[in-house]
Amino acid sequence: MDIKTYGVIGAGQMGNGIAQVAAMSGLSVIMNDIKAEFVQNGMNTIIKNLTRSVEKGKMTAAEKDAVLARISPSTALKDMASADFMVEAATENETLKFQIFKQLDEICPVHAILATNTSSIPIGRIAAQTKRADKVIGMHFMNPVPVMKLVEVIRGIATSDETFQTTWDLSIKFGKTPALANDYPGFIANRILLPMINEAVFCLYHGVGTREDIDTVMKLGMNHPMGPLALADLIGLDTCLAIMETLYNGFKDSKYRPCPLLRKYVEAGWLGKKTGRGFFEY
Ligand code: CAA
Repeated sequence: MDIKTYGVIGAGQMGNGIAQVAAMSGLSVIMNDIKAEFVQNGMNTIIKNLTRSVEKGKMTAAEKDAVLARISPSTALKDMASADFMVEAATENETLKFQIFKQLDEICPVHAILATNTSSIPIGRIAAQTKRADKVIGMHFMNPVPVMKLVEVIRGIATSDETFQTTWDLSIKFGKTPALANDYPGFIANRILLPMINEAVFCLYHGVGTREDIDTVMKLGMNHPMGPLALADLIGLDTCLAIMETLYNGFKDSKYRPCPLLRKYVEAGWLGKKTGRGFFEY
């Protein structure tokens, strides 16, 4: 399928990164959020990233202007009536995502694919909110989106071959490498990553090590670019908790129980980098 207009729901840290890579690949992008202020914050991040690329000589000023000109801000879901492909990157909340998909199903053209950037909510459950389950798929980007090479493509039980192929090809057009996952809680990426992060939080909770020592062990001992606690802060502790809850509820296996310390931080509003405090201070 020929995709010309790409809609992004959510202008937060994932949404603005996705909008940036889509616009850089030459597509027209509509970036939507519920408030103009959120869309503007997303645009400011994109401007900052592109300006840095110009300063480093990776892009010309004219290319930067052309990328920015391809992104239209939006605060009304009905603007997605002209999108050929949608990706939803709203907060990791099932009820919210269900509402968005119900509305998009009414608004978007019949040929449009409705993708979700969910980190762990089953694609089949989201698809069941629409009358086009064959056109619903997971397109899961990694944070920070402009840097990370992976897109995890998740097929729901009813996803068609055409929807899958279009999403796979689009990931390559964005300069990413896709990997295919089937629709089970956490898919591949977060099924493996989040239990590791949760275990690092248990190490802190049990006093096995300080936050610095836990992160140093994984950085220098396992060559991870960031320690698991710093990475949790980057992802957002609320998102980490939501993913652990999805794994726990999805498998009913106690090995996925979220660490009480993770819950305590989230309840205190210590959500990581975005709130200035998580396991570390920012
Ligand atoms: N946006 C855009 N570009 C960014 C960026 C951001 N937020 N952060 C860093 N960069 C760029 C820098 O500009 C720099 O670019 P150049 O190479 O052109 O100079 C490059 O990335 C490297 O950055 P730094 O030198 O500042 O720092 P670094 O080498 O330590 O890399 C990092 C930073 C890329 C974040 C690296 O630490 C890393 O890969 N961390 C692990 C990230 C990770 O695991 N992400 C997956 C999280 S899980 C997820 O997202 C899925 C989910 O569902 C929860």
